[in-house]
Amino acid sequence: MRIIPIRSRGFGPTSVAAVMLAACHAAPTSAPRAPEPAPSPATMHEHFALARDLVTFAMTGNLEGLRVTARELSTLEEARGVPAGAESYVDRVHAAARAAVAAPSASAAAREVAEVARACGECHLAYGTDLGVRFQDDPPSGSDPRGRHARYLSWVNRLLWDGLVGPSDRTWRTGAEALAGTEGFPPPDATYVPQDVLARGAGELRQLGKDASAAGSADARARVLARVWVTCADCHTQAGIR
Ligand code: HEC
Ligand code: HEC
Repeated sequence: MRIIPIRSRGFGPTSVAAVMLAACHAAPTSAPRAPEPAPSPATMHEHFALARDLVTFAMTGNLEGLRVTARELSTLEEARGVPAGAESYVDRVHAAARAAVAAPSASAAAREVAEVARACGECHLAYGTDLGVRFQDDPPSGSDPRGRHARYLSWVNRLLWDGLVGPSDRTWRTGAEALAGTEGFPPPDATYVPQDVLARGAGELRQLGKDASAAGSADARARVLARVWVTCADCHTQAGIR
């Protein structure tokens, strides 16, 4: 059976970094220039917002969008304004992004996006940046049944991403348990997706939640997270969502 989407949807990545960068390059060169301020970790992280867009592309199976964004992330010179000695960690983020650009399939690319998250986490770990204490793990609020699937699974997805990027064991485990519960199914408006497709997808995510709980190392967690995104993407592609 062919699945016909009722309406086209967009997840709409939010990063404006590309536009901002383009605007910088377009600035007139004749005007006197103020010395460039040394980029701070805050500037660096503004640009790393691109990494969140990669997740959106990974979970919709949008390989084209993923490649464009990964290329941008892989060439961010701004990300080099980091404390001396930290360059190798930025290089790891860049290398994972380059691997995502070169990945031959959406699932291989998802694997590299998870590697980006792992590389972020390695630097945080090296700097003793305990991001976990800043993370909000509370379940999403809102009771409109129409948004339940998107709300619940975006929350789970965020927990797993944060858990790896933090890295935060607590956040990862909260995400894993929530995924095993898969409260987000069936998506309320998804009458155009056959019941068996929905049931299979929900079952796969439930199993991945268990796998996520069992995964102890950053490497194992990155592999599970990539499989989660591929499972989201499998169904979203069939449902015509990009
Ligand atoms: C070169 C090392 C390094 C790399 C690579 C790195 N970070 Fe960070 N990150 C830091 C440091 C140091 C801090 C703490 C800064 C502070 O205290 O606000 C931080 C803080 C953060 C924060 C918290 C910011 C806030 O306002 O609370 C987030 C979120 C974050 N990083 C995400 C990422 C993501 C996503 C990546 C990868 C795409 C990444 N980081 C890569 C060093 C790094
Ligand atoms: C078995 C099918 C299936 C799986 C698996 C699935 N989804 Fe969905 N998802 C849908 C359908 C169908 C919609 C459209 C919902 C509607 O029409 O109400 C949707 C919509 C969404 C939306 C809203 C998009 C928009 O622009 O309206 C988000 C966010 C979302 N899903 C997140 C996720 C995440 C994250 C995962 C994986 C952890 C996931 N979904 C797994 C079927 C699925």
